[in-house]
Amino acid sequence: MSGSLRQVEGAIRTPGVERLHESVRQPHEEEVEQSLRPRALSEFVGQERVKRQLAVFVEAARARGEPLDHLLLAGPPGLGKTSLAEIVARELGVPFVQTAGPALERKGDVAAYLTALDPRSVFFVDEIHRLPRAVEETFYPAMEDRRLPITVGQGAGARVITLELPPFTLVGATTRTGLLTTPLRDRFGVTIRLELYPPEELAAIVRRSATILQVAIDDAAAIEIARRSRGTPRVANRLLRRVRDYLEVAGGERIDLALARSALELLEIDQEGLDRTDRAILRTLCRDFGGGPVGLSTLATAVGEEPDTIQDVYEPYLMQRGLIVRTPRGRVATERAFKHLGIAPPAGSGQPLF
Ligand SMILES: Nc1ncnc2c1ncn2[C@@H]1O[C@H](COP(=O)(O)OP(=O)(O)OP(=O)(O)O)[C@@H](O)[C@H]1O
Ligand SMILES: [Mg+2]
Repeated sequence: MSGSLRQVEGAIRTPGVERLHESVRQPHEEEVEQSLRPRALSEFVGQERVKRQLAVFVEAARARGEPLDHLLLAGPPGLGKTSLAEIVARELGVPFVQTAGPALERKGDVAAYLTALDPRSVFFVDEIHRLPRAVEETFYPAMEDRRLPITVGQGAGARVITLELPPFTLVGATTRTGLLTTPLRDRFGVTIRLELYPPEELAAIVRRSATILQVAIDDAAAIEIARRSRGTPRVANRLLRRVRDYLEVAGGERIDLALARSALELLEIDQEGLDRTDRAILRTLCRDFGGGPVGLSTLATAVGEEPDTIQDVYEPYLMQRGLIVRTPRGRVATERAFKHLGIAPPAGSGQPLF
């Protein structure tokens, strides 16, 4: 490999590049991601139905001078749940207070947040499916009638007092509605499901981000990046930044199709938009297990990922591309998956090919 190519590789392979969906990010990356976050509904690209719904709810709440109904945002990572929660608060003109399910360890943690809220605030709980059960129960009366029963004292002297809470809107985000208990789910007035984005919308996000990052990009290159971003704005933005690194090292002026393609190739993102882990999942299914069915935990062990990560991050895209299907007995590779890998499907195995 020539010196300059190695240099390009070095620039592209900054930590975390191989794992594009990693939730733990570099501090600098975090900063850049913040700068790309849409700040208003009008800046939020795509998801037109969701935006129309939210605009109506926000307008109605504002007109009545009441807090917005509790809102649950569901969908795979990186589709804009946190962005939307912040936007809702901003459009309502109310404070935004943020925490996450696993950070609320005790009832007292919830009490500390809720009693300190300014009236009509948006209280955002990310990963709400990871609330400890006992803590979750304190949300029921808080959401329903703004009451917070707390126990003071201990043993025989213990008694329950009920705190009145200011009016507030709970916005919960979850990658998995299935993990929410029914009582909690039922207390949200509105549930909004975010779906993977089509390439045209992702291309618009790439162009918007390129403008913010002050890098010129051709439409064809924006579409190429979009097509390989697994339906996810966060991935689209990250790929754009890596392609921009490539441009800088290559010393070019603008991102054109050829440059985008070379950079994406270096990142090992293939034509289907699959990365190394996606392909490892498919290879395991097709080659090691003859197409499946394979249970989630077996699959996770085989590729060295957490079952949750496979389920939340990888599967939605692989299913959307029609490469795998979920059956009651486990994950099954489709004929397309075998084709994509260039492996012949097992003959006469009786395996259902979709
Ligand atoms: N509709 C959109 N328009 C423009 N940019 C978007 C859009 N949705 C998401 N993004 C970009 O993608 C990034 C990730 O979005 P966000 O953090 O809101 O996703 P998330 O659903 O909360 O993800 P996670 O589940 O991992 O917390 C944001 O920084 C933002 O720049
Ligand atoms: Mg988020």
